[in-house]
Amino acid sequence: MGNNTTLTEQEFQQIQEQEAITWNIEDPVKRTEKERREKARYPLLAKQMGLIGRYACIDTSDMLIWDIGAGPCGGVSSILPCKERLCIDPNMDAYSKYYNVSGYIGTKAEDLKESLSKPDLIISTNCIDHFHEPKQFLQDLVQYMKYGAFFCHFHAIDNAYQHKHPAHKHNLNEEIVGSILGEKFECVWGMNYKDDGLTYGWLKERSFCGLYRKIC
Ligand SMILES: C[S@@+](CC[C@H](N)C(=O)[O-])C[C@H]1O[C@@H](n2cnc3c(N)ncnc32)[C@H](O)[C@@H]1O
Repeated sequence: MGNNTTLTEQEFQQIQEQEAITWNIEDPVKRTEKERREKARYPLLAKQMGLIGRYACIDTSDMLIWDIGAGPCGGVSSILPCKERLCIDPNMDAYSKYYNVSGYIGTKAEDLKESLSKPDLIISTNCIDHFHEPKQFLQDLVQYMKYGAFFCHFHAIDNAYQHKHPAHKHNLNEEIVGSILGEKFECVWGMNYKDDGLTYGWLKERSFCGLYRKIC
């Protein structure tokens, strides 16, 4: 994947511990500030992914939505109308120290396999490049998602190269996502840094996002 990083299970767990530290801030004032900052970004992310606003491509109100790699604050799915919603994050138990994780399951994305055929919409923001095996997850979407279901994502470009952090071991970019989703998905919406100046957060990380529909 980009730099072809392969992580052992032990290395992945160590990264997850580092990730939990960034959210489980002991000081309640600083923790609230972090939570507000993260949640405040959801509407713009949803708009940029083609889920809400003038250029919304789909109506999510009757959909089963899975927010995979949701983080402890509910993820972008928490602001969308839907029939039902599930958050999936292997750090669920760690997050339960300070956050409400009802409506979560603590499973790794790469272990979902056949169950990926259930949701009508899968959302993954700023997380696939944190997964143990990002490529495997993308390949599983190709193999298991049902016909007509949607997948959307938002990610900084090549995080491992551009933004050094213990949790940034993998690079993700348009070429990688496009080459794996390939012929089994139609890209119905997308934005990127080169054409649209798409960035993420206060650090203005160069980013790309897309909304894809499974076509076979
Ligand atoms: C940077 S946070 C992003 C949270 C949220 N999606 C957002 O945009 O604010 C990355 C999340 O991915 C989760 N994650 C890491 N590996 C994962 C895996 N294999 N499957 C699912 N989630 C994973 C982490 O626990 C963490 O909560």
